[in-house]
Amino acid sequence: MILVLDFGGQYAHIIARRVRELGVYSDVKPCDITLSEIGKLGPDGIILSGGPSSVYEHNAPLMNKKVLDLKIPILGICYGEQLIGKLVGGTVLPGKQKEFGKKTLYLKKPGRILKGLARQEQVWMSHGDLVAELPKDFEVLASTDTCKIAAFENEKRKLYGIQFHAEVAHTPSGNQILKNFIFEACKAKKDWEIKDLPRKLVKEIRKEVKGNLVIMGVSGGVDSTVAATLLHRAIGNKLYCVFVDHGLIRKNELEEVKDFFEKKLNFRHFLVVDASKTFLERLNGVKEPEEKRRIIGHAFIEVFEGKVIELEKKHRGIKFLGQGTIYPDRIESAQPSKYASKIKSHHNLTLPENMKLKVIEPLKDFYKDEVRKLGKELKVPDEILDRHPFPGPGLSIRILGEVTEERLKILKEVDYIFIEELKNSGYYDKAWQAFAALIPVKTVGVMGDARTYEYIISLRAVTSVDAMTADWAKIPHELLEMISNRIINEVRGVNRVLYDISQKPPATIEYE
Ligand code: XMP
Repeated sequence: MILVLDFGGQYAHIIARRVRELGVYSDVKPCDITLSEIGKLGPDGIILSGGPSSVYEHNAPLMNKKVLDLKIPILGICYGEQLIGKLVGGTVLPGKQKEFGKKTLYLKKPGRILKGLARQEQVWMSHGDLVAELPKDFEVLASTDTCKIAAFENEKRKLYGIQFHAEVAHTPSGNQILKNFIFEACKAKKDWEIKDLPRKLVKEIRKEVKGNLVIMGVSGGVDSTVAATLLHRAIGNKLYCVFVDHGLIRKNELEEVKDFFEKKLNFRHFLVVDASKTFLERLNGVKEPEEKRRIIGHAFIEVFEGKVIELEKKHRGIKFLGQGTIYPDRIESAQPSKYASKIKSHHNLTLPENMKLKVIEPLKDFYKDEVRKLGKELKVPDEILDRHPFPGPGLSIRILGEVTEERLKILKEVDYIFIEELKNSGYYDKAWQAFAALIPVKTVGVMGDARTYEYIISLRAVTSVDAMTADWAKIPHELLEMISNRIINEVRGVNRVLYDISQKPPATIEYE
């Protein structure tokens, strides 16, 4: 495996994903990991990520200097490069000017890590500081106009550094550099393949569960569906799946999910808890978005917990709680960033500790794209794997302000038409996420010869890679017109349709 040490940049996970895509398992750990923990992991190589700090700054994230002497090849990227530079006795200085964006890299010598690159290459830079001097036993391999030491290596000590980001698409030869490091410097074996995984994971689940029963909440989303499918393959009818219907789901959603689990996957225990009344009652009169989220989060846990207790009484052997946690979820909840401000509180299911159920998370080591590939291997149909994300609080955060039965009914119909037309026209797969939101403001319209006074609907379709940023989807006007006509003609209570053309940031994808 290749160990990625996280120095606080946004790039650590991208690096690990790139390494996995190249066929070698990779894990991200905090930069202050101990030597003995590294020993336990036994990495073939270590990559030090970028980060927003300066190595000479007070409180800059550091690592144990002895990591450099473990005789494990190390590649430092950006901040990681500067850290190696500093730890080996070189000089790191603020650059004359900050470099940000595409730059030309001039190769002096390929050495080991720049093998296969042209004399000039486009690279992506994002830094203020730079390594200005290195001890004599280090060789400078490349530079840019403003950065003399843009790549270096010490082949004897197996230390390598690049100032630019090899892990991003704007560095077209970045993968070649990572390959050089992983396979040439570290001599890692290419043995990470999704298609071999189901068998291995099934074996691990059986070993852990040992004939006990597992209970799991499913939503019909990609993660929980793939996790449940995997558990089902391992333990069959010993799996109890619970779908909490909070009433804030989309039209036909329950039927589709139930049908999939029962008919396509032959689950014997797919239990639906209809709690829509409870949720609607508790949301009655509540307008504030965070309050709505809080109420839904709490009610969800309460309802699910009630079902678990009921099942526990009936079937004494329930010992495990299955969860669809994936790798990024784990990182986010373990180390919430000190500096990130809370924009919206997303809720994931966590049960109180006194429930004494052991958590089993078969997808905890995988990224989203890997979960999709795993789902494909498990024959989960594309219509589930390619589904747009749907937030935990469901339609409640797409009905701005107070949620009422009337508004829910309208929104379900509208959303259904929008998504149906996007699917028919092929635009569903082009968008990262699409949905309708109800703006509880009434405007005047005219229908037939009569005046109407009804709600506004806003349609939102976005393109994105990871939901961190998003752009509005450029859907043809003719298609929007047809969708708008259908909505106004077919759904009572709406007389005006808008298309949202805001980007994230400054807007967010959802409305609340
Ligand atoms: P925003 O609105 O923050 O949304 O741009 C980013 C992505 O997160 C989804 N989202 C949620 N997912 N629970 C979830 O599981 C939540 O509470 C939640 N809120 C937003 C949103 O749909 C988008 O894909």
